Amino acid sequence: MPNGKGLELAGHGFTPAVARKITDALAAIGATGKSGEITKVAPVTGMKAKIIIGVGVGNLNKDFDAEALRRAQGNAIRACAGLRKVAVVVSPSVELLRESTVALRLGAYEFTSFKSKGKATLPSSVVMLVPAPVTAEQRASVDEGNVIADSVNLVRDLVNTPPNALPPAALANAAKDAMTGLPVKVTIWDEKALKRDGCGGILAVGQGSANPPRLVKMEYAPKGATARIALVGKGITFDTGGISIKPAANMDEMKSDMAGAAAVIGALQAIARLGLNIAVTGWTAIAENMPGGNAQRPGDVLTTMSGTTVEVLNTDAEGRLVLADALGLAAAEKPDLIVDVATLTGAAVVALGARTSGVMGNVDAVRDEVAAVAGRAGETMWAMPLPEELRATLESPTADIANIGDRAGGMLSAAVFLREFIPTGQPWVHLDIAGPAYNSKAPYGYTPKGGTGAAVRTFVRLAQERAAG
Ligand code: BES
Ligand code: MN
Ligand code: ZN
Repeated sequence: MPNGKGLELAGHGFTPAVARKITDALAAIGATGKSGEITKVAPVTGMKAKIIIGVGVGNLNKDFDAEALRRAQGNAIRACAGLRKVAVVVSPSVELLRESTVALRLGAYEFTSFKSKGKATLPSSVVMLVPAPVTAEQRASVDEGNVIADSVNLVRDLVNTPPNALPPAALANAAKDAMTGLPVKVTIWDEKALKRDGCGGILAVGQGSANPPRLVKMEYAPKGATARIALVGKGITFDTGGISIKPAANMDEMKSDMAGAAAVIGALQAIARLGLNIAVTGWTAIAENMPGGNAQRPGDVLTTMSGTTVEVLNTDAEGRLVLADALGLAAAEKPDLIVDVATLTGAAVVALGARTSGVMGNVDAVRDEVAAVAGRAGETMWAMPLPEELRATLESPTADIANIGDRAGGMLSAAVFLREFIPTGQPWVHLDIAGPAYNSKAPYGYTPKGGTGAAVRTFVRLAQERAAG
């Protein structure tokens, strides 16, 4: 609202007289227009609406950008609980129409599947107002925003689904369901197929659970596409830590340890629906990390798909074990780029906080490209180094490599471990989304409590930019 000169209505369609009345009503009750502020007032004369919700957007001259707009729209829609019909005046620019669609749809997200009586309270549809006539380009932009929002919200649903309702086989089936009617070939590996293909990492992590592991491959390869990328996701449907068991506090949040796999599923769905001119192969390594009677032990040695042996010194460092196999399979197809995505380390949250993902990789320029793409997609990711000396901390006296290194730089040594499974010359980027994948605090902007759908928008944007060459 404010422009540095006091309260002002931003981007409205009212007559000056009505706008003046609204501004006065909001100011009288103490609205300042600061970012995130919500002020509700009764309608002023000359308006048909039942309520006016003032949403602070900060100083338009100083700190306003596309993300500030998306957050304001998310805040606005979350303030509309109980309202059925909502109209929002939005910018008519093609770019911002897509972003407004995404922000409003993401802000209106609620997860009520497991409430026996609960119904959604936020509006299920929103009218966006732009000056007539609406062009085909504007409509296409709204359609694109809806496709992206559908997939981000699918990922949120998968992440929020209780772990008893989403064991590995169910997550694999959800991947198949998500591709229904789309030109995406889905292949599911069961325990037997995993054994046949030497996926010792996925099998070892899964062997402590009564619910056996899975691997899913999703292939989108439109005719004429020349660029080829692979997306690889960590899909631990629940991470107890295994025999190296986690403390009880907040362990429930480890239902989100499949957020990487879910992001890959969501990205494939959106990319195929948008018909992007790029071949994308998704891989998800899915297991439940439980301390059952057959669980792997600290000290066990396993053999990964590529033949590298790993001494498991901590069964809670399981994500890198399942990813080792999936990265090996992805690399065998020699794509232009492999990007893996994982809720890999608590150290990522220590280093970057809960809202920023770490971006690492074996080619600095490509790592920086992905971090920049994330920024353009409206996600917060930050490039991090892979210090050479960390490889030595992963030395094992028994096997080729150990699955944990020094505690210091834990996000980085996890990435150095993963790099071991990438052949020389294969460009690879690793996203640690341990913080942003799950919001355990209060909702903000268009981000709800719980699953957030982190990395989907970055993947779609990456595919769009790579497809454009
Ligand atoms: N899934 C966790 C990482 C995690 C922690 C994600 C908190 C989101 C929030 C991962 O499997 C794990 O347990 N990592 C260990 C690695 C350690 C044993 C080297 C960790 O971060 O403590
Ligand atoms: Mn773990
Ligand atoms: Zn984990």
